[in-house]
Amino acid sequence: MLDGLYLGVDCGTQGLKTLVLDGAKAARGAPDAVLASARRRYGTIAGLPHGASEQHPRLWIAAAQATIREVLEKIGKERVRVRAIAVSGQQHGMVAVDDRGRVLRPAKLWNDVSTAPEAKSLVEACGGAEAVRRITGNALPPGFTASKVLWLKRTEPQRFERCATILLPHDYLNFWLTGERATEAGDASGTGYFDVRRREYAASVMSAIDPDFARRTPRLVAAGAAIGRVSQARATELGMPSGVLVGHGGGDNMMAAMGTGNTHPGVVTVSLGTSGTAFAYSSDPIIDPLGEIAAFCDSTGGHLPLVCIQNCTNTTELVKRVLRFNDGALDREAARVPPGARGASLLPFFTGERTPNLPDASAALFGLTPLSFTRECLARAAMEAPALQLGYGLDRLRGLGLRPSEVRLTGGGSHSVTWRQICADVFGVPIVGLAVDEGAAFGAALCAAWCAARAEGSAVSADEIAQKCVQLDERTRAAPIPDHVERYRELQRTREQALASLKPLFPRLRARGAP
Ligand code: XUL
Repeated sequence: MLDGLYLGVDCGTQGLKTLVLDGAKAARGAPDAVLASARRRYGTIAGLPHGASEQHPRLWIAAAQATIREVLEKIGKERVRVRAIAVSGQQHGMVAVDDRGRVLRPAKLWNDVSTAPEAKSLVEACGGAEAVRRITGNALPPGFTASKVLWLKRTEPQRFERCATILLPHDYLNFWLTGERATEAGDASGTGYFDVRRREYAASVMSAIDPDFARRTPRLVAAGAAIGRVSQARATELGMPSGVLVGHGGGDNMMAAMGTGNTHPGVVTVSLGTSGTAFAYSSDPIIDPLGEIAAFCDSTGGHLPLVCIQNCTNTTELVKRVLRFNDGALDREAARVPPGARGASLLPFFTGERTPNLPDASAALFGLTPLSFTRECLARAAMEAPALQLGYGLDRLRGLGLRPSEVRLTGGGSHSVTWRQICADVFGVPIVGLAVDEGAAFGAALCAAWCAARAEGSAVSADEIAQKCVQLDERTRAAPIPDHVERYRELQRTREQALASLKPLFPRLRARGAP
């Protein structure tokens, strides 16, 4: 059923990856099921005001072209066996295109929180936070797409007028492949103008953005359906066989859910990437009365309650840059000091923060003494900070009834032995990595295989495919150490107090730090 080759593309904030999966090998759990992979790095636009984060979609296209060509070259004649492709993309990004499909401005990304004023006015226009939650199932933090669209209308009205469709990053790549303006419930549920209970656009939020906004949304395709086929022109340009099917793909967390086997109740995934996320499959929507846990849909027909922190590997990258550490050095140094980094503690809100919802925040380091103001303590504090923020998120998921007994770890940070142990100790449950650790790109390839099977009349579910193909890497398993768990609980309480006293200062600190 899964015979053939499948391409998975993951368009992230720091770069784009493509991999080729041999479906039959993956279904047998063969360790060499990924035949080839390629990656290109890119950055965000420098010099924007605090809280803004933008990237031009042309970078994604250049990286997709280069990596798809590269993996096809690597597999040589085997390329004739490629049946389908699917794209995973950073969630929430606003890609405004005109009627001819031209991109009107750089995309405002998921971690752009400069549209906090627009988020606030949208919530007011919809009748308050409670009303928004009733309509969509979600809160409306500035990270979601809705406030970015209102910002476009207010700040760049001429561009808004010319805008024919607002696409998400993965929708835009699908559009580039097929010419189709389409989306699916998983990624659409992160727009803020989508009702997760009915899996449909939320008309009242859309009209609060603009009475004419509904015509600017892409059509929705059902879970398991194809968007279309790779256009002949694109196939020729990429060296792909004709007629390759394009599965719907989805947001990177939805695709990472597939790629980590998080497609049935009971599994929890934590992803340590540019963002840090913790999420679990649920067959019903899980609505958080505090609005901190996003009530996303997944891309398989279910739901994906998720907590997202904005500052994860950017925290460790910044500390590496400032202390001039290479990858291995950060890990080694952090391992030299005990949990709690001798008191050094970091609130890692370098780019503002989504959870807690503090778009104005900046980072703060405290607990420094001559003993803790050292390279190794700072290295450890940089790894502990996102883990503790995610630990808070996991506790909130527990509060909503989820009972993680183990956490599957994915994303770049999951390669670090020290970070894995910190996560086990902070989360208080065993953690384990995956045999294919590129969760989102792998999930996209599985999604491609699922959509191809469905297109040929099979009734196979995404969960059946994920259960067959996703393997844990037992060598990465880490169990919590009871003393450490206790130490981190204490630290969590201290951090909450420190944050409460800093909160009123953030707007002033930010004003000083503005360019
Ligand atoms: C989730 C979120 C991030 C991005 C990162 O809500 O905003 O995880 O998807 O690419």
